[in-house]
Amino acid sequence: MRPFNPPTRTLLGPGPSDVHPRVLEAMSRPTIGHLDPLFVAMMDEVKVLMQYAFQTENALTMPVSAPGSAGMEACFVNLVEPGDTVVVCRNGVFGGRMLENVRRCGGVPVVVDDDWGTPVSADKVEDALREHPEAKAVAFVQAETSTGAHTDPAPLVALAHEHDCLTIVDTVTAVGGIPVRVDEWGADAVYTGTQKCLSCPPGLSPVTFGEGAVRKVRARTTPCQSWFMDLDLQLGYWSSGSRTYHHTAPVNALYGLHEALLMLRAEGLENAWARHRRNHLALAAGLDALGLSLLVAEQHRLPQLNMVVVPDGVDEAAVRARLLDGFGIEIGAGLGALAGKVWRVGLMGYASREENVVACLRALESALTEQGVEVENGAAENAARAALEGAAGSHDDGGPR
Ligand SMILES: Cc1ncc(COP(=O)(O)O)c(C=O)c1O
Repeated sequence: MRPFNPPTRTLLGPGPSDVHPRVLEAMSRPTIGHLDPLFVAMMDEVKVLMQYAFQTENALTMPVSAPGSAGMEACFVNLVEPGDTVVVCRNGVFGGRMLENVRRCGGVPVVVDDDWGTPVSADKVEDALREHPEAKAVAFVQAETSTGAHTDPAPLVALAHEHDCLTIVDTVTAVGGIPVRVDEWGADAVYTGTQKCLSCPPGLSPVTFGEGAVRKVRARTTPCQSWFMDLDLQLGYWSSGSRTYHHTAPVNALYGLHEALLMLRAEGLENAWARHRRNHLALAAGLDALGLSLLVAEQHRLPQLNMVVVPDGVDEAAVRARLLDGFGIEIGAGLGALAGKVWRVGLMGYASREENVVACLRALESALTEQGVEVENGAAENAARAALEGAAGSHDDGGPR
């Protein structure tokens, strides 16, 4: 066996996405003790920077030392007690994972199903809340990575609060790519991941808990079944002042998150959202010129994750393999019900750049031609470049339409 030297790929799948070189460099700096005063001071900055990324002033904002699934679990194990009824919205794979979490916490799930590729229906959630006045929480995914559909959290949070329910919101693929406004929505427990639009490697899950969620944690009548995720215990470590040992923080991963968040703040959230949107529109124009269509209706599309319908007669796995082997570009396959039917093309974080849009379109043109699809040479790149020129100078807040 020898040291592992991975090739440099362009990661245009559903995540992980390309890590910014500054983040990789930051992560290679010397490891210091996690209770070293200098590290503690850096962690205080990470909290402030994450509050910016989430658009919240929640004091309980911290990265869980594990991937996005752990952020999800942290929300459920703290907020769902055995016997609690929880409305779970399922319009893709990750809503299904939320359902599993509710079950494993001993909660009573009420499932609101919507078609894959469509947003969560507020009307259905309202019906569920009327039928279940005992419900204590509503859980949903803002950016469904398995389908590319966006759900607007604002109306769902408002509905949940009208029915005295807390909200658990998955923003793993959202933060940094589209507007996430935790305080404006009033969302109670929100988690994200580092490996999508934050340009970091996988492995950390920033979470933020509002006052209502903290009250619920404090009022629990049963202890949180997870020692590691118990927020009461984690708080002792993360709250400023005296740091007490809870677990050994992933020191170098946190250097990386700090660096990534500094870059996000320097760019400005609105600019980052607009960049994701601009590059999405360019990609969509190019895909159209290749004769490819997107699964999700225009107004519900996530700019950072494009669900491209595989044309009849095309070998979807062969195209992905060709992009990887021939061009060093990774795109994703469909998950669950969409397996074999779509490609998932991500333009997330540092990967959301014009040169990646063009490189991806050129590679797709070549792979489709090899599959016998008739495409006009260079048309996709021209369409993308025209869209980029058209977007230059226009004002756009970057939100999904
Ligand atoms: C919407 C969503 N939620 C949760 C997760 C789980 O995150 P992780 O794979 O980092 O555990 C993902 C990962 O892709 C995701 O896309």
